[in-house]
Amino acid sequence: MQRAVYPGSFDPITNGHLDIIKRAAVMYDELVVAVVTNYSKKPTFSTEERIAMIKKSTEGLNNIRVTNFDGLLVDFAAAEKANIIVKGLRAVSDFEYEFQMALMNKKLRKDIETIFIMTNYKYSYLSSSMVKEIASLGGCIKDLVPDSILQDIKNKFKD
Ligand code: PNS
Repeated sequence: MQRAVYPGSFDPITNGHLDIIKRAAVMYDELVVAVVTNYSKKPTFSTEERIAMIKKSTEGLNNIRVTNFDGLLVDFAAAEKANIIVKGLRAVSDFEYEFQMALMNKKLRKDIETIFIMTNYKYSYLSSSMVKEIASLGGCIKDLVPDSILQDIKNKFKD
């Protein structure tokens, strides 16, 4: 049984994240989508809201589990008996930070590998923060996030 963890803030999940989830899910027996709770950036959506939106977006994918974690990612992965961390890589700008984290995670736990999946070019410009900025300014976020959570995001920025 090979289990992988796909961690992130998912504040909120975007179509770019969903694309990585679908592509990683066919590579492993189980993919644990792990929402970070102790993040330095204060999230717009609560942990429960972020988990609920990921669950809605991944309905029908049967080897996905969605949960949250705090503390070190490698400790969470080890507790889940997962020896793979999946990360999406968008552009060169992502690389430096992701490379640093992958090496640090490897230093912390040698038995856990980080695997990078190149983002689909269609979503390479997409980020959760841009989605939030557009939604908060009344712009159209269709095609940027899964249809099933469009209304949840709009509701958040209604007032
Ligand atoms: O979606 P994000 O914001 O890029 O996700 C970043 C995340 C959650 C993967 C990263 O901040 C993380 O792994 N946090 C857990 C704390 C930890 O293990 N820190 C050491 C990493 S080298």
